Amino acid sequence: MKINVVELNSENAQEYLELRKVSEIELPQYVGPSAERELMSGNEGIAKIISSYALEGTILFGAFSEEKLVGVIAVSRRLSPKFKHRAFIWGMYISNKFRQLKVGALLLSHVKNWAGNHPEVNVLWLQVTESNTPAISFYKKHGFETYGTEPQSLFTQGEYHNTHYMQINA
Ligand SMILES: CC(C)(COP(=O)(O)OP(=O)(O)OC[C@H]1O[C@@H](n2cnc3c(N)ncnc32)[C@H](O)[C@@H]1OP(=O)(O)O)[C@@H](O)C(=O)NCCC(=O)NCCS
Repeated sequence: MKINVVELNSENAQEYLELRKVSEIELPQYVGPSAERELMSGNEGIAKIISSYALEGTILFGAFSEEKLVGVIAVSRRLSPKFKHRAFIWGMYISNKFRQLKVGALLLSHVKNWAGNHPEVNVLWLQVTESNTPAISFYKKHGFETYGTEPQSLFTQGEYHNTHYMQINA
């Protein structure tokens, strides 16, 4: 299986939003506020949001199989001097049929490479829903450690969900 990873831009907006919509239908308890903002922007607003990402310090990586977007990961950081060393990974989602085929590992390696090319970035951190054992296993396997838990971090479908904070030195 050949998977190509590229940085996404506003030309990928509609396909990208479609994947986000699938993730919200399948696993709303794992969709955080940045992806929720994209979903709320809808078909009209998504290209504008993606266009603004470079200035905001956000990069989207997409994994393609035969020209089809099958996985995404995002990385964001504040660009101010006191905070630009901490980059936040969010919105990781692999299409159901492509899971456990190392697409996630490939996407994460692109984020790690990106961090390696930005020496001022020395921490990669993320939030993961406490019940998401596959993702927690995935992140642990790639060296992330839990450093805290936020109770009632997310509310969806009548239930609260705790989230773990995890990080790794970049
Ligand atoms: C979690 C996720 C990103 C992992 O990506 P992936 O491409 O499936 O994972 P990879 O093939 O690169 O890596 C596999 C590893 O991930 C973990 N993993 C993935 N799916 C798993 C599952 N269903 N059960 C247990 N562990 C799982 C394991 O550590 C596994 O290692 P192993 O094969 O040695 O057991 C992907 O399953 C996904 O998109 N899940 C739904 C959305 C989500 O949870 N996103 C994360 C939000 S924080």
